[in-house]
Amino acid sequence: MSTVLVKGARPYGEGDPVDLLVRDGVIVAIASSVAAADAEVIDAGGLVALPGFVDLHTHLREPGREDTETIETGSRAAALGGYTAVFAMANTDPVADNAVIVEHVWRRGREVGLVDVHPVGAVTVGLKGEKLAELGTMANSAAQVRLFSDDGLCVADPLIMRRALEYTRALDVVVAQHAEEPRLTSGAQAHEGELAARLGLAGWPAVAEESIVARDCLLALHVGARLHVCHVSTEGTAEVLRWAKSRGTRVSAEVTPHHLLLDDERLRTYDPVNKVNPPLRTAADARALRAALAEGVLDCVATDHAPHAAQDKDCEWSAARPGMLGLQTALPIVVHTLVNPGLLDWRGVARVMSERPAEIARLPDQGRPIAVGEPATLTLVDPVGRWTVRGAELASIAANTPYEGMELPGTVVATLLRGKVTARDGKATA
Ligand code: DOR
Ligand code: ZN
Repeated sequence: MSTVLVKGARPYGEGDPVDLLVRDGVIVAIASSVAAADAEVIDAGGLVALPGFVDLHTHLREPGREDTETIETGSRAAALGGYTAVFAMANTDPVADNAVIVEHVWRRGREVGLVDVHPVGAVTVGLKGEKLAELGTMANSAAQVRLFSDDGLCVADPLIMRRALEYTRALDVVVAQHAEEPRLTSGAQAHEGELAARLGLAGWPAVAEESIVARDCLLALHVGARLHVCHVSTEGTAEVLRWAKSRGTRVSAEVTPHHLLLDDERLRTYDPVNKVNPPLRTAADARALRAALAEGVLDCVATDHAPHAAQDKDCEWSAARPGMLGLQTALPIVVHTLVNPGLLDWRGVARVMSERPAEIARLPDQGRPIAVGEPATLTLVDPVGRWTVRGAELASIAANTPYEGMELPGTVVATLLRGKVTARDGKATA
């Protein structure tokens, strides 16, 4: 029996403050004043209560690169960022393309117990794009894989993609595509545009993403399958998605915090901390992505949290690996780019950070309403709190944050996973 009393929070930032009483992981009372002598009390005066965040796109690097992140350190970062479920991408070493690896990741996540760790299964064997992995075996394993992706690489062959959509439709799971036509991005280092040309960096054109998204939307419509598009980075992709959705395509899409905030002006720093795939686009793209997320053309925010070792980032641009940390900075970036400018209210934050991703991945007990009888899987946010990002202080082993030294608004004060406090006042607790 555990009892937690959250005092004085405003669910979704609406109405008067209320107390939430949690017993054995379930919200059992919500009222203006609740008393419980035996409870662990969380003073939530001035805080906004939201459903726990769900990240459809996290790189936890275990197995294989435990020098940059482990399931344990990544789980800490997730809990501190307000997350209660994360999807661990399959581009580990060995690749998560079979039941043994996905079950290992799932089990290790349960042992750590800070956040629900759902392994993503690879679409193709070894991420090679040639032969479908055993999707059914992974879906029916103990890990119950619900999302399949070759992320880091694109499922480029249209016939392999069609077969993947046919299998996933039958299994009622979803392919998450990293949309990048490899023939158009060979050697690419940065967004193809004026700046990359002037700096002498080989370009990654917007059309390499947009053409794959258009193709896959048409394939998904043809097959009748669901499709999820990873890290949308261009205005043109948002336009393709708007069109596809208007035609009844079962497509969902995510956008990263960095593509909402940053743009290719960062190239001028020559600092590879800004190198990411897909690359940072133009300021006009970022503006269009913010509008598309607010409108619902883009469904959710996903971090693409991508830890890298110092030696793989503190080197010349062309040799650096793409990717940046994201779990602990996602909410502040959303507050900064969408809430404070008035594009999204806290209901909207709940939608893009929790409810939609939980629906896309069909998680039955995440993204639930804050109501009596529902699981106490919650994030408590201080809307006026501010903090200064220091890579070395983040819970991840790696420190590659592009927000170093920035003061950001919106702090996660506590995270609860089915009534268990997993983070509180900047400390992961389990
Ligand atoms: O920037 C990225 N980093 N994009 C990807 O698609 C893969 C990821 C990684 O694994 O580091
Ligand atoms: Zn990717």
